[in-house]
Amino acid sequence: MEYKIAVIKGDGIGPEIVGASMKVLDKIGEKYGHKFNYHEVLAGGIAIDKTGSPLPQETVDVCKDSDAVLLGAMGGPKWDNLPGDQRPEAGLLGIRKALGLYANLRPAILFDELRDASPLKPELIGDGLDVLVVRELTGDVYFGEKHREGDEYASDLMNYSRMEVERIAKVGFDAAMRRGKKLTCVDKANVLETSRLWRKIVSEVAEKYPEVEVDYLYVDNAAMQLVINPHQFDVILTGNLFGDILSDESSTITGSIGMLPSASLGQNNFGMYEPIHGSAPDIAGQDKANPIATVLSVAMMLRYTLGLEEEAKNIEDAVEATLKKGWRTGDIATSDDDVIGCQEMAQHIIENL
Ligand code: NAD
Ligand code: IPM
Ligand code: MN
Repeated sequence: MEYKIAVIKGDGIGPEIVGASMKVLDKIGEKYGHKFNYHEVLAGGIAIDKTGSPLPQETVDVCKDSDAVLLGAMGGPKWDNLPGDQRPEAGLLGIRKALGLYANLRPAILFDELRDASPLKPELIGDGLDVLVVRELTGDVYFGEKHREGDEYASDLMNYSRMEVERIAKVGFDAAMRRGKKLTCVDKANVLETSRLWRKIVSEVAEKYPEVEVDYLYVDNAAMQLVINPHQFDVILTGNLFGDILSDESSTITGSIGMLPSASLGQNNFGMYEPIHGSAPDIAGQDKANPIATVLSVAMMLRYTLGLEEEAKNIEDAVEATLKKGWRTGDIATSDDDVIGCQEMAQHIIENL
């Protein structure tokens, strides 16, 4: 089969991690007889520099016309003083919205080989960690009306409609049914009206999933529970802002933010696949970035959008085999490990496919 993949490398470490991941995908193509045709398009800071816009229309058009989108990261200090709607991050939010990608799946899994890289005590890790953060991605305070009065006043409206909560709740419960059949709704219902609506709607959707055990936690408590009792979690269902924060936290208890992939899904399994981390300006251009989050995002693309389960599993197994052999980028290394770079890590993964 031939597939058309839109590629947005973005800024900072984006080109390094996406370039490395495309090599892994090419090798999968060679092995299983698929051809991945890449169409590279611009978004983020590099798009601002080259076209004046963080999200050129051509980028949206090419993505819509592709089978899936692979994305690196956007943003960096160079563009930090631009007005909000002209920043690189506006390109990222814009493409998620334009493609209708409302469901963001962020699986935080601790590879057994990385137990030492987790900041949690061994007794808390127990037999491993496996939490899926289901983050709503096209609503919340990210997309509500914004207002600014000079340097005196600012507001961002937090809002959710029934439709938005219902559809992401279904994604969460469906995921729970395929996993440990437990779902924790994370919100701030003791303070926020949006969260009270979430709880109401989530409890209604829950009635259609009697096998799933449902739990409700306030986000402050949930942030704490993740580091003192992570095993209570299976699926965390939450809004855009809380999901952003809790997914970084979840990633780090599984070793590093450089390990955590994501799928941003819309209708008909269409998706954009992106690591959860950012452009890491502090290590950009130095071949230091961990490509695994992006490589695992490619595996999610093969599984969720292209329906190539065997190929996806092959990538995940190759990552595990590479870690087992002791190869580490700086973010997941412990003091006595030899540290390798981004491209070398990808090369080892390819050898283990
Ligand atoms: P970040 O995720 O870029 O970096 C946080 C820390 O994690 C840094 O120390 C960085 O070196 C490290 N890190 C991140 N990815 C890594 C990897 N693959 N391997 C090794 N180490 C890694 O977050 P930040 O510093 O808060 O943000 C930097 C820029 O990225 C900002 O402009 C921000 O808006 C943007 N950002 C973009 C995305 C995205 O495009 N999806 C996500 C988050 C942040
Ligand atoms: C992420 C990022 C983005 C988000 C930013 C860069 C807009 O932090 O993908 O997690 O908050 O969604
Ligand atoms: Mn984030």
